[in-house]
Amino acid sequence: MKLFTDSLKESVVVLDFGSQFTQLIARRLRELDVYSEIVPFSISLEELKSKNPRAIILSGGPHSVYEDLSPKRDLKPILEIAPVLGICYGMQLYCHQMGGEVKPTTEREYGLSSITWSNSLTGDSKTDAWMSHGDLVTGVPEGTEVIGTSENDHIAAIKSDGFLGLQFHPEVMHTEKGKELLSYFVFGFAKLETNWSSGEVYHRIEEKLKNALKPSDKILCALSGGVDSAVVAVLLTKILGKESVKCVFVDTGLLRKGEYEEVLESMTSLGLDIKGVNESELFLSRLSGVSDPEKKRKIIGHTFIDVFKQEIEKLGEIQFLAQGTLYPDVIESVSPNGQSVTIKSHHNVGGLPENLDLDLLEPVRELFKDEVRGLGRFMEMPENTLMRHPFPGPGLAIRLLGEISKDDIQLLQEADSIYIQALKDEGIYDEIWQAFSVLLPVYSVGVQGDGRSYEKVLALRAVTSLDGMTADWYDFNHETLKRISNKITNKVKGINRVVYDVTSKPPGTIEWE
Ligand code: XMP
Repeated sequence: MKLFTDSLKESVVVLDFGSQFTQLIARRLRELDVYSEIVPFSISLEELKSKNPRAIILSGGPHSVYEDLSPKRDLKPILEIAPVLGICYGMQLYCHQMGGEVKPTTEREYGLSSITWSNSLTGDSKTDAWMSHGDLVTGVPEGTEVIGTSENDHIAAIKSDGFLGLQFHPEVMHTEKGKELLSYFVFGFAKLETNWSSGEVYHRIEEKLKNALKPSDKILCALSGGVDSAVVAVLLTKILGKESVKCVFVDTGLLRKGEYEEVLESMTSLGLDIKGVNESELFLSRLSGVSDPEKKRKIIGHTFIDVFKQEIEKLGEIQFLAQGTLYPDVIESVSPNGQSVTIKSHHNVGGLPENLDLDLLEPVRELFKDEVRGLGRFMEMPENTLMRHPFPGPGLAIRLLGEISKDDIQLLQEADSIYIQALKDEGIYDEIWQAFSVLLPVYSVGVQGDGRSYEKVLALRAVTSLDGMTADWYDFNHETLKRISNKITNKVKGINRVVYDVTSKPPGTIEWE
């Protein structure tokens, strides 16, 4: 069942020309409380119109308008639909098509540049802006005014009747007054009104669910212990009632220390009909002797399916499986050659719906993670549930490198709980997007007390990120790291060495397996 895939009456549609920042544009707009959607640049005119765009944004992209394979489309009919903002490549494409001039340059502008405004959109005469472009607009179409120039005296901002062009990226944090510029475009230039808040999102989902489901429909909601599935479970229960929404939380034996009990308790206190199923023996016996990460994932995925099938049988008629799929998972993005379309999918437990013969219900598939948290706050869910770091479906299985043993699970759980508690005590847990420990299948020599030790090595990981697609390692204060390392080696028998992972994604991934 396709729920929640149509648009609001009014939206800002972003045509994606392949920029790595396209998602950020939609996020910034939603932070301004307007609904924004990303579509491939090649979307048909009919489909584009069906989204009721009141403003359209042409994203940047890594291409040159002169490349044969660069993403192109006729902009004239688009300009007739609504006011348009062209960012970087989007502005170049406009100038190229409408009678201006675009040229390759030897002075590639990359990084911060000071923009001098002759006709300011924010009231500032100079602002710093983040640039990343090879080609350059050297002449503007008739009727278009140059309103800002860069340090190198290049055209940086243009304006005409229905078009605004920025050579730099207003969506990037480093751009000073970037949000104000987007705000000017949306409210000042395109004259939209705000239409997106947690309350509105909630009522919109409520209306759609009530229209789409029958009172007799029953939904299985599998909790992962993470934020998204928790918000979905509370949302569905609030809207449809306990009788219709049956929540299941499986103890795989691979959860964090105390997590099974904590999640069951907090979700029960939020009024959910939740059943805890302890299947740790089953998961661990099937994983016995397995060291390949992908095999571990498959075994865990299949075991989840078996457990859910068993629970569905016990529950009787179930028609829907609820999942906490988010917007970044479903955005269609253009591939680098601008021709094919790929869909990213990072569902929590891959393959579940196909194997369970249930319809899929994805009520938050239009939302970014911070919006899901906002929805949770609107429903008065506790902050510690909402601000929890993401946790992968396969759990600690992919943080215990190689074969898994019960002793190692315990060791990792112990060390990780000290690490995470320390981050909370130091007041930095919320600054970090995801933090966890990895137990390495490596022994090293140490000296503890008067004796020599020969014990395992623990790697600490902490990253900052927007949605896990790319990530940076968190720049710890060294004293903090020292305190955490000391706590772990003092308290956890079996670990005598702690290392910190300083790898970004790419080239690394966030998890080690
Ligand atoms: P990677 O390691 O791919 O992780 O950089 C990106 C984000 O996804 C989580 N992750 C998973 N989540 N099943 C999940 O439900 C998985 O198999 C899986 N692998 C990675 C990871 O924790 C991070 O948040």
